[in-house]
Amino acid sequence: MTDADPFDAVDVIISKRDKAELSDAQIDWVVDAYTRGVVAHEQMAALAMAILLNGMTRRETSRWTAAMIASGDRMDFSGLSRPTADKHSTGGVGDKITLPLAPLVAACGVAVPQLSGRGLGHTGGTLDKLESIPGWRADLSYDEMLGQLESVGAVICAAGASLAPADKLLYALRDVTGTVESIPLIASSVMSKKIAEGTGALVLDVKVGSGAFMKDLASAQELARTMVELGTDAGVSTVALVTDMGTPLGQAVGNAVEVQESVEVLAGGGPADVVELTLALAREMLAAVGRPDVDPADRLADGSAMDVWRAMISAQGGDVDAPLPEAREQHVVVAPGSGTLTRLDALSVGVAAWRLGAGRARKEDPVQAGAGVVLHAKPGDQVRAGQPLMTLLSDDSTRFARAEEALEGAYDFSPQADASTQPLVLDRIT
Ligand code: URA
Repeated sequence: MTDADPFDAVDVIISKRDKAELSDAQIDWVVDAYTRGVVAHEQMAALAMAILLNGMTRRETSRWTAAMIASGDRMDFSGLSRPTADKHSTGGVGDKITLPLAPLVAACGVAVPQLSGRGLGHTGGTLDKLESIPGWRADLSYDEMLGQLESVGAVICAAGASLAPADKLLYALRDVTGTVESIPLIASSVMSKKIAEGTGALVLDVKVGSGAFMKDLASAQELARTMVELGTDAGVSTVALVTDMGTPLGQAVGNAVEVQESVEVLAGGGPADVVELTLALAREMLAAVGRPDVDPADRLADGSAMDVWRAMISAQGGDVDAPLPEAREQHVVVAPGSGTLTRLDALSVGVAAWRLGAGRARKEDPVQAGAGVVLHAKPGDQVRAGQPLMTLLSDDSTRFARAEEALEGAYDFSPQADASTQPLVLDRIT
């Protein structure tokens, strides 16, 4: 602390520890002082734990978000000739929806600036998936982004270091201090980046279930409500769908295999759940920018979404016609019994894909482009004993045993033919 600093970090921590509401001035100061290195990591860790335990009011969360936005640059897409809409998912297993969604919504006349991240742990990262396309480049300058949004309509790229730097520091700290699972901290972390990115409309896909941050519906609904309030307070038209992540999305979990599945959706095929969620989110994005009359299903059917995909990948150096990398080794897991598959646990499949090399344990680790899991049956499907249930893919066959361990107890069968399955979209919050 310097003479110019109006507060003492210890007083701010004690206020929150004792369940007081932090003032706007305290919040502005503590976020800024942490970014400047004046508040120490151990002090911010204590404050994050006090927030996790005692919560924040709507006013505090909104101010905390504004302070994180103010720590960096804001982008401005208001000069583009089309409206902008963005989607954010809280992350899940097999969640490749951004890949078909961004070109699809762009094909409907909306600009889609999609700043994405790399994966950590069992949920995959959009950039890791796209980097399996030979030549594709994630890092674009602001001018390149703007140019591509105007010419192609969609861009998926890495968020630059200047976007909400306070969040980058705080998220890394929360990751190692057991303070990730705080609804006000997750909501402000996500929304500070989305608001700073300058999108006109935002559709949130809040996942619930074993493969998601939020394991129960009530917590997912609360997170969705908190994020929608933050967006609305900041003047961004925001809506959230709460969607099931108890089982993986689609049949492919990994990097290149998820790109392949996304291309199938853009070609008019692909798994029913991926198509359903892509269209549901596209319709929300179009409604949010005042174009509810455009039907995105037509743009999948007429090939225009595929045209935008090809232009978007090529604009970032990717060779759309090059074969995607394939894993050197594969191992088939067969069904141990016969009946209807009633459960296929998302977290277990996500951990298996991660152990096969599709994900990373530390930020600096490389990922294998070809690694992952391809599912041959989904809940509701009939299977016979000995039939292939999934194929494990890796460049390194010694990884199969640990992946199979992750899959122990991951699925159930029932002799009844009509086992019911959960709907994909569980709630809509505005
Ligand atoms: N994703 C984020 O960007 N922040 C969080 O806090 C959690 C998930």
